[in-house]
Amino acid sequence: MNINLYKICAILLIWGNAVTFSYAQKALQLKVETKNSLLVFTVGNNGKLYQSYLGQPLIHPDDQALLQAAKHEAYIGAGMGDLFEPAIRMVHADGNPSLDLIYAGHQTDKSDGTVTLTSITLKDPKYPVTVILHFAAYYKENVIKTWTEIKHQEKKAVMLSNYASSMLHFEASKYWLSQFDGDYMTEMRMKETQLTSGIKILDSKLGTRAHMYRAPAFFLSLNKPAEENTGELLAGTLAWSGNFQCSFEIDQQNSLRMINGMNPYASEYKLMPGKTFETPAFIFTYTNQGKGQASRNLHRWARKYNIPDGDQPRLTLLNNWEATHMDFNQEVLVDLFDGAKKLGVDLFLLDDGWFGNKYPRDADKTALGDWQVDQKKLPGGIGHLVKEAGNRGLKFGIWLEPEMVSPKSELYEQHPEWVLKLPNREESLSRNQLVLDLVNPKVQDFVFNTVNDLITQNPGIAFVKWDCNRMLTNTFSPFLKADQGNLFIDYTRSLYAVMERLRKKHPHLPIMLCAGGGGRVDYGGLKYFTEFWPSDNTDGLERVFIQWGYLNFFPSLTVSSHVTSMGKQSLKFRTDVAMMGKMGYDIRVNSMTPAEIQFSKAAVENYNRISKVIWFGDLYRLVSPYEENRAVLMYVDDAKDKAVLFNYLLNFRRKEFMGKVLLSGLDPEKKYQLKEINLLPDSPSTHPDNGKTFSGDYLMKVGLNLAPGKISPLSSSVFELNVQ
Ligand code: GLA
Repeated sequence: MNINLYKICAILLIWGNAVTFSYAQKALQLKVETKNSLLVFTVGNNGKLYQSYLGQPLIHPDDQALLQAAKHEAYIGAGMGDLFEPAIRMVHADGNPSLDLIYAGHQTDKSDGTVTLTSITLKDPKYPVTVILHFAAYYKENVIKTWTEIKHQEKKAVMLSNYASSMLHFEASKYWLSQFDGDYMTEMRMKETQLTSGIKILDSKLGTRAHMYRAPAFFLSLNKPAEENTGELLAGTLAWSGNFQCSFEIDQQNSLRMINGMNPYASEYKLMPGKTFETPAFIFTYTNQGKGQASRNLHRWARKYNIPDGDQPRLTLLNNWEATHMDFNQEVLVDLFDGAKKLGVDLFLLDDGWFGNKYPRDADKTALGDWQVDQKKLPGGIGHLVKEAGNRGLKFGIWLEPEMVSPKSELYEQHPEWVLKLPNREESLSRNQLVLDLVNPKVQDFVFNTVNDLITQNPGIAFVKWDCNRMLTNTFSPFLKADQGNLFIDYTRSLYAVMERLRKKHPHLPIMLCAGGGGRVDYGGLKYFTEFWPSDNTDGLERVFIQWGYLNFFPSLTVSSHVTSMGKQSLKFRTDVAMMGKMGYDIRVNSMTPAEIQFSKAAVENYNRISKVIWFGDLYRLVSPYEENRAVLMYVDDAKDKAVLFNYLLNFRRKEFMGKVLLSGLDPEKKYQLKEINLLPDSPSTHPDNGKTFSGDYLMKVGLNLAPGKISPLSSSVFELNVQ
């Protein structure tokens, strides 16, 4: 419709001035549309592209024409008239540091039926530079994925010093930003602040393990602080495992300019003629129904479009890291397999410490890079372990940290030129290790072959944990020579190139993304990884908050949550906490009492029965641990026939009053029976509503008392709801 309008207006334009006015009124408009959101761009009289709207869909199509080409240029080039943060800055081959972007055409591709791709081309009238803004609109999921391509045909290279994935503008009375940050062991702490005039930046300069201090994910709430079930907000996240920058700038007229992309810090990028610079995708969902709806939109989108096998079951497992660290041998491991069998999990995951011969990996000072089985510890090799696991009905998985190298390793001795390190400076170690120069194609081949050979030569390997335990410091790529500005960006692109090759050969292999815990979690990585390790902190109380944080943006089947011995809470509490995500174990089964084993075995059986609801259902957060001394959440399956309710009482003082909890997401017309599960052996439920049947309407309007009778801190309950 817009194109026709544009043509008609253009024809009318020939007839004279009066019609010029009409042309201005009915300028070309492009819309990016999902079921519950609308983004409109208008081409101004000056040929520039403006963002004229982002909000709820307009019900009267004519109203859209009223949206003017306002003041907000869609993707602003530096060096021209605008004096705030630019989306792009380019220094041309002749040294001119400006970019003027004019609308030059667009394409809409609906071939997929459910995803509409709108690509808008902008060109500089004086320089042979093209910028294409891509918007993929996922109609049903209400998610928009946007990214940018930059290319040129100048005689020599240009330098890019800003290259946003996305620029969006807002005009609200107030803006509130919820960010998620922390450190090793304290990941994903939510903080909300009101934005004020000037720039607020969320960023990372850590290179690898880039998200250790801060996740590239946020809620931007318009007019008032973010709420769970109401209010206009945008949930956004950058699909990029390297340095990122999310900037929020309020100008003198209280407009907010939001720019998301790779961090330009130390990354002036040299772009050769004819090459395309493609930014990572910024993924966002706009809603007027609060954070809860935003999370559900992202979860549904991610399972369907981003995560490998997002609609397939995951494997429960027993990991040996917290149980043994690197201190094990073949017999110890085979004993641990027996423990995994007792629990009834699907897989045994062998962690760090299985490799290295000249320099065995007995501590974290050696052997990264020497990915050969330690003959002394494991004389039978991986094959023997796979076989022994198989004899017990278990699959077998293995830990790797392929991007890294220990100074004490054969790899380092053979290829000192493969290592990132500054000339004329001392090597900068972190966890006693260095990072490989992944930008070098030979290193990419080495990493690919390491992983590929291990998997193909040991066909029983059914799971990989891919770790990355340090950030980049004092960094220099011997391969890039004079173009060090490309390093941070090309490192992450190279990682993706290796993963792309691996995924082609092993499309369904489950691979866990780990970087000293949650040091690397984003939808760029999660195109290749099936789950992630949120934190090395597995204390049950801490995990309630950490998992709560990640679940805002990532679906539960990706959030690996293991029962361990860390933390002072009961085994039941720690088990109930692990169950809210993708459950596993990292515990010494040998040291558990028969009652604990019996409880855990039953818990795994329960999990096997309800995990489909947890993995593929909709998440409803009912009580936030940031607002009360408890956390309550539930998952509801698509048909609204089954639900699982998790209730965690945290640290509270004597006689703390806890109100009834209203459930969510159920069918008001259906009747559900409430059944408490994960009970200790010989301890029947004492909950007064256990076994009773309620309508969905009652549960959502009257609610349940989830803290009845005498309650104790750090206790928990889990309920299954089944339609009758
Ligand atoms: C990191 C991971 C742990 C474990 C160790 C092994 O810390 O987060 O789970 O794999 O490395 O060295």
